[in-house]
Amino acid sequence: MNILGIETSCDETAAAVVSGGANVRSNVVATSLKDHQHFGGIIPEIASRRQIEFINGVVAESLGRAGLALGDIDAIAVTRSPGLIGSLLVGLCFARGLARATGKPLVEVDHIKAHLYANYVQLPEQRPACPQDRLPAVGLVVSGGHSSLFYVENFKKFKLLGSTRDDAAGEAFDKVARILGLGYPGGPVIDRLAVGGANDQIKFPHASLKGNYDFSFSGTKTAVLYYTQRHQHRPGYDVAKVAYAFQESVVAVLAEKSLQACRNFKVNTLLIGGGVAANSALRRVLHSQAQSQGVDVFFPPMALCLDNAAMIAGLGYHWYNVKKS
Ligand code: KG4
Ligand code: ZN
Repeated sequence: MNILGIETSCDETAAAVVSGGANVRSNVVATSLKDHQHFGGIIPEIASRRQIEFINGVVAESLGRAGLALGDIDAIAVTRSPGLIGSLLVGLCFARGLARATGKPLVEVDHIKAHLYANYVQLPEQRPACPQDRLPAVGLVVSGGHSSLFYVENFKKFKLLGSTRDDAAGEAFDKVARILGLGYPGGPVIDRLAVGGANDQIKFPHASLKGNYDFSFSGTKTAVLYYTQRHQHRPGYDVAKVAYAFQESVVAVLAEKSLQACRNFKVNTLLIGGGVAANSALRRVLHSQAQSQGVDVFFPPMALCLDNAAMIAGLGYHWYNVKKS
């Protein structure tokens, strides 16, 4: 079964064709990121206008790269929510129009759950990060818009355990990068800088809310702001050391909560998804801590950590089957 996936929740316009819920036949992503960079964040109005410009070409290219015509597609899957409303509407209206015009079934998919499904998707000549039978699992989604922890019983049943009470993890990276004058998006640049900033002199608070699975990163972000204001003009101030200490604090909390959920639910599979899943410290810390607890941790390939439509088409396959039965 070939599913055409469409994803337009933020600044990426993406389309992909996935067979059998796992095999990626094409995966096309266009982005308006450059148009937002000098504003220091995504401007929703600009993002949605670019979506309109890109969508037709991106969908046509995804079919072309898959070597398929629209008639070869069995169903269309599209991101329904969450995301920027103007951006979401472009993909939803396009997909609904296409489904109506071609008579193909339409499946509307949750963007956050699809980030976790990226672990089960198989790029050409690669294995999926995680075998399809490794369920139930605990799933951590950390992106620019969300930090959520799930108990994943199967591909149709996701139980939300906790989420952020303020900034999402990626949002905290982006805001701290702005405080440190590092540009947008902040995650990749903090990740790179932190490599040369290892130290144990600077400590930022680990916002570990007790007795639940919620996150809070705004206190850590404010601590970075105050530290920077106090120290940036003093001798010895090193932005790489600040980046390291901030990243260490966020990563420690994400690792602690996810592994705690694995222990409590007696699960030995931990799935990570979303843009922050690209973070090298999160990968390193989780791999080593999970191993000592007998948990296997899975990260999608880099190309599938950020927003893409392969994860939408893949999860759409399972949700389409639910609708039919
Ligand atoms: O999943 P995504 O593409 O978009 C949303 O659905 O939000 O994630 C984008 C976020 C941005 O906040 C970006 O700073 C963050 O992912 N990010 C990273 C890294 N690469 C991207 N955060 C930490 N370390 C990275 N290497
Ligand atoms: Zn996302």
